[in-house]
Amino acid sequence: MKGALMTEHTASALSERLFGQSVITMEAASVWLGQRLGWYSALSEDGPATSDQLAMRTGTQPRAVREWLEQQAAAGIVTTHQDGRFELPAGHAEALLDRDSPNWTEPLVRQIVTAILRLPAIADAYRSGGGVPWQAYGADMSSAQGDINRPLLLHVLARDWVPRIPELADRLAQGARVADIGCGHGWSAVGLARAYSEIEIDGFDVDDVALAAAREHATDAGVADRVRFHHADAATGLSGGPYDVLMAVECLHDMPRPVDVLSTMRRAAAPDAVVIVIDEAADPVLAAPADDIQRLLYGFSLLICLPDTLSHPGSAATGAVIRPDTLAAYAIAAGFAGAEPLDVSDTGFWRIYRLGL
Ligand SMILES: C[S@@+](CC[C@H](N)C(=O)[O-])C[C@H]1O[C@@H](n2cnc3c(N)ncnc32)[C@H](O)[C@@H]1O
Repeated sequence: MKGALMTEHTASALSERLFGQSVITMEAASVWLGQRLGWYSALSEDGPATSDQLAMRTGTQPRAVREWLEQQAAAGIVTTHQDGRFELPAGHAEALLDRDSPNWTEPLVRQIVTAILRLPAIADAYRSGGGVPWQAYGADMSSAQGDINRPLLLHVLARDWVPRIPELADRLAQGARVADIGCGHGWSAVGLARAYSEIEIDGFDVDDVALAAAREHATDAGVADRVRFHHADAATGLSGGPYDVLMAVECLHDMPRPVDVLSTMRRAAAPDAVVIVIDEAADPVLAAPADDIQRLLYGFSLLICLPDTLSHPGSAATGAVIRPDTLAAYAIAAGFAGAEPLDVSDTGFWRIYRLGL
């Protein structure tokens, strides 16, 4: 839908658009409720239900369940039966509940609603200075972040993307020592460790909620003997090393000191290391109006990434819209030769860069 937005700058066109957005925003909030109260999982696991049955299954208020089910039917998310039961179609259950499906999009809604809940603090920061630290968004923000990236990092990264970067695939196949900077919930580390049985990975992050989850994920996947997670500010140094492969997945733009982080990675790199940064697929320059991906990135930036990074004094304040030139400038300032975007398709709102030593 590139360029489809607001070519007509009239009051009625914007009014119509805001009306539609109001409906959609409330429907997103209703998805958050359905996930939080277990209504979707109960419909999916135990089949179609009347509102009383669903209330019974989930220990929630029958009157509230009736309103939600009717609202979900009106929104086209559940379907109705003649006998008064409501059904969650299998495809919708996949998008809402299937943790391994590339269509699992409920966590994105969860993250955005979690950010919206912090709007008063964000507005205060934007007025008075400072920001809203990642931790202030609560554990929900961290777990939604892990969940959003899980299907891609656990499955797609090793299966579809790494083979398209031959030097990375070769290095991993040889049994590399890998550093995963800003590792979050550990899905990239676990996904690579499952696919490459000879590698060892150190993950580094400052988010304790994420690190605890990452350790559990490595244990559950049976790779905890080769995948370790460390609490460390990547701007100040990495224990271990030298590493044969270093990667930073969707995190550089969040880091208050991105050049220091890249310098740390540069110092920890073996002489022939492969250094990969995956970050947002921001357009090279501002497009206005822009496509959905750019609009999503600006949304992330305004509501989450910029408030977080602004909470650190002296921050580079990059925001989610990290353009290729910005990333290349950071890389060069950190002592790399540059940051080359790689030709890997189907990476959605991400772009993969190789940093030259
Ligand atoms: C958007 S999340 C991405 C996490 C993970 N790589 C993924 O793709 O799911 C950004 C991560 O960077 C981490 N982070 C931010 N600043 C950091 C720093 N200075 N050192 C290490 N990790 C940092 C955050 O705690 C967070 O887990």
